[in-house]
Amino acid sequence: MRSFFVLLAVFVASLVNAEVHFHEFVIQETPVKRLCKLHNSITVNGQFPGPTLEVRNGDSLVITIINKAQYNISIHWHGIRQLRNPWADGPEYITQCPIQPGGSYTYRFNIEEQEGTLWWHAHSRWLRATVYGALIIRPPLSSPNYPFPVLPKREITLLLGEWWDRNPMDVLNLAQFTGAAPNISDAYTINGQPGDLYRCSSQETLRFLVGSGEIVLLRVINSALNQELFFGVANHKLTVVAADASYTKPFSTNFIMLGPGQTTDVLLTADQPAAHYYMAAQAYNSANAAFDNTTTTAILKYKDAPCVTLQGKSQARAIPAQLPGFNDTATAAAFTAQMKSPSKVKVPLEIDDDLFFTVGLGLFNCPTSNTQRCQGPNGTRFTASINNVSFVFPRRNSIMQAYYQGTPAGVFTTDFPPTPPLTFDYTGNVSRGLWQPSRGTKAYKLKYKSKVQIILQDTSIVTTENHPMHLHGYDFYVVGTGVGNFNPNTDTASFNLLDPPQRNTIGTPPGGWVAIRFVADNPGVWLMHCHIDAHIFWGLAMVFLVENGEGHLQSVQSPPLDLPQC
Ligand code: C2O
Repeated sequence: MRSFFVLLAVFVASLVNAEVHFHEFVIQETPVKRLCKLHNSITVNGQFPGPTLEVRNGDSLVITIINKAQYNISIHWHGIRQLRNPWADGPEYITQCPIQPGGSYTYRFNIEEQEGTLWWHAHSRWLRATVYGALIIRPPLSSPNYPFPVLPKREITLLLGEWWDRNPMDVLNLAQFTGAAPNISDAYTINGQPGDLYRCSSQETLRFLVGSGEIVLLRVINSALNQELFFGVANHKLTVVAADASYTKPFSTNFIMLGPGQTTDVLLTADQPAAHYYMAAQAYNSANAAFDNTTTTAILKYKDAPCVTLQGKSQARAIPAQLPGFNDTATAAAFTAQMKSPSKVKVPLEIDDDLFFTVGLGLFNCPTSNTQRCQGPNGTRFTASINNVSFVFPRRNSIMQAYYQGTPAGVFTTDFPPTPPLTFDYTGNVSRGLWQPSRGTKAYKLKYKSKVQIILQDTSIVTTENHPMHLHGYDFYVVGTGVGNFNPNTDTASFNLLDPPQRNTIGTPPGGWVAIRFVADNPGVWLMHCHIDAHIFWGLAMVFLVENGEGHLQSVQSPPLDLPQC
């Protein structure tokens, strides 16, 4: 029966010129040597980063995951809308139980009205440190050109990553045990390579060839686990044309800033003297906390650039890239504020669900002085919350399965609060009594087609910080942002309801707020969380439960037969 449907899908797809892409992802331990040290990293098909998926708008993907590793795993297709199909979304214990060692699961989904740069990654514990890859969606064959001011001659995909000189799962386990912040990374990477500025790495520094005068489309993806990054190319202007697989009004900039989860497409014209130019990424760190202060590089090499011999090796000196200072929030915010949709868009104007979410860290006090397990500030354990609820991932079942089967008891409740339990000066000097959230697995229910506004308000509890908030199953419009506490009476008037950018991940300005709007037209269970993985396991997450509308075209599909069970 299933194979009949696959054949039917292939047949229907061929009629409309769309394609079905079949892939097999074998999750396996693979020796990977970085920074002079060999690790047994978890990879897909032995590749690090994993395979790039290249499709067109309208195509379908059928990807079988075979788990030959020792960890539970699930894969998320970051930014894919998965209309009525939460079963293919991937976050473990949210829409599915993880695929156990020795198990397999086939993700089947369609690309519907989406174009641009997305990516995929493991959505289980910290496996995404090495299990990730690009997902590129080109325009359909029926109208194959990009809507850009100039058309690129070449495309380069750059996955910015973060590398630990130890097993990332051990880093997580240690932090979960001690309650302290997890160890910072040892390197950033571009397509898995740290580059010239790290020990034992310059041999493998990536070089990308361009011809003088060529226009290049750079697809930049922040797949780092925990760090917002600045990215730029020495002496070259970048023209931003898309973000999170939504086109933007083009604008020119010397650098871009991306939070984990975000993607940005830029056009670069090779209009400089033929030479070697560094492409570089380094931290934008808004929190008052330790961070990895290193720089990853690759090289943009003009074809006719002269070669220089350094220390007997034929190696070119590359021109360094200038990036903003690591704590330059004003510059980061000014960059993000330039994003706009290409033209007027349909933003929901009347709001049905008006939500106000406080987003931030916290500290759990320890009952006894358990020194081993309470190595956070002053003998506490770090935590994080939205509206004072620190999200606990269920273990017995996924939320979507429990909801579909009508057995939520013991898995989740639907009492997530639309506002914080207390009103206080969120970005001021918050009294220590408000630093400790409560734990829960709470969903917020939305009626089908409800028009939703969420104010994401950062708090100064422990530290103010840019939290890249990602919503599964949706794109949203970013209609406003500001510093300090959101004031509905004055701030709403300044919203951009004309051409706001559409995104799937947006950072809260440190000590500020950001306002997003969307229509809840995709039924299912959808996770919203901070894409800093160090914050997810502390509880910086919640779920939306979007109810079915009328009839099967407005309802969640039935689950695939091979959906993993817990
Ligand atoms: Cu890119 Cu919930 O993740």
